[in-house]
Amino acid sequence: MAVRKIKADVYYVGAIDWHRRLFDSLIPTPDGTTYNAYLIKGKAKTALIDTVDPSKEAELLRNLDDAGVGSLDYIVSNHAEQDHSGLVGKMATLHPEAKIVTNAKCKEFLMDLLLVPGDRFMVVADGDTLELGGKTLKFMLAPWVHWPETMFTYLVEDKILFPCDFLGAHLAPAELLVESVDTFYEAAKRYYAEIMMPFRTSVTKHLERLSGIEIAMVAPSHGPIHTKPASIMKAYGEWASDRVKNEVVIPYVSMHGSTQRMVDHLTDRLIERQIAVKPFDMVATDLGKLAMALVDAATIVIAAPTVLVGPHPLAVYAAYLANALRPKTRFAGVIGSYGWGTKMVDTIKAQLPNLKVELLTPVVIKGYPKADDLKSLDTLADEILEKHRKAGIVTSLA
Ligand code: FEO
Repeated sequence: MAVRKIKADVYYVGAIDWHRRLFDSLIPTPDGTTYNAYLIKGKAKTALIDTVDPSKEAELLRNLDDAGVGSLDYIVSNHAEQDHSGLVGKMATLHPEAKIVTNAKCKEFLMDLLLVPGDRFMVVADGDTLELGGKTLKFMLAPWVHWPETMFTYLVEDKILFPCDFLGAHLAPAELLVESVDTFYEAAKRYYAEIMMPFRTSVTKHLERLSGIEIAMVAPSHGPIHTKPASIMKAYGEWASDRVKNEVVIPYVSMHGSTQRMVDHLTDRLIERQIAVKPFDMVATDLGKLAMALVDAATIVIAAPTVLVGPHPLAVYAAYLANALRPKTRFAGVIGSYGWGTKMVDTIKAQLPNLKVELLTPVVIKGYPKADDLKSLDTLADEILEKHRKAGIVTSLA
């Protein structure tokens, strides 16, 4: 991405990655992403806020050159993950007078992960400021969005918040500056679900702190810059809240059709009860869509056939992911089939220690579902409806 002026003496110098389709060798990024870096030219000093993924080194260097940067005085590192910090050491080498400005925990990580020498750092604490000459950087420690060392930098005079990954999106945007999250709602929610949802409590805490600060612009480390920050903050507030929706997510796998028949039947019965259902075949599903569905759903039902006495490994994978993502889900169920014996319920339950859920009555059947088995699924649909009603999620009778 070319250099973009976003305010007087404040420039976007990051890189766009149109074709990246996987992050952390795990997370799908169907819309690409960006690695946002920012340049702030004070009257006396110049600071770079974060770098870019090492694969985009040439682009960052070209952008700094185009922006007329002869030398840097400060390299601010808000987050030690390598898609932002990967070139911190390189930039420090290219600018031998520059100090790497970050907090103590992030310094430790940068030394461990990137072998940056310790004598290059200027360590800041929460509330510390750095004068650049007409531009003042204020640092706010903001742990656990989504690593323990994450930090926000606030440009006081322009009221711009640089919150690293927080409030970002994996999106190669057509427009860098946006007013409303509605223009890229799915990408923003996907990003929240995949990256921030496990840290819902920290998200809420940081939103509360930011509500006391005047913020004209939010410039995160991925995706568009928010020129009306209330929009993305409101969306985060809703996603991170304890409020769940009248929805059931069903991650499932089927080998010979028995579990598929059970999932189809339960799906239909839930729809009849006016409960929104989102089934995900784990063989083909986009994990980001599954994560997004878990942001709001009141209930998760994991469905699997039995393989070697336990649940199919893809169902274990689904349970493991749900447990790691820590959604606010209230109820959890297990359905599936077996041939001659199974321990699927115990195995799947053991994968969910992080979820504060009430367990629903399992429906585990022998072979292909028969009339009585389907009735058990009807009863499960009734149980889910009743739980949702008692939780105040259903506002009208089905
Ligand atoms: Fe975009 Fe946590 O790095």
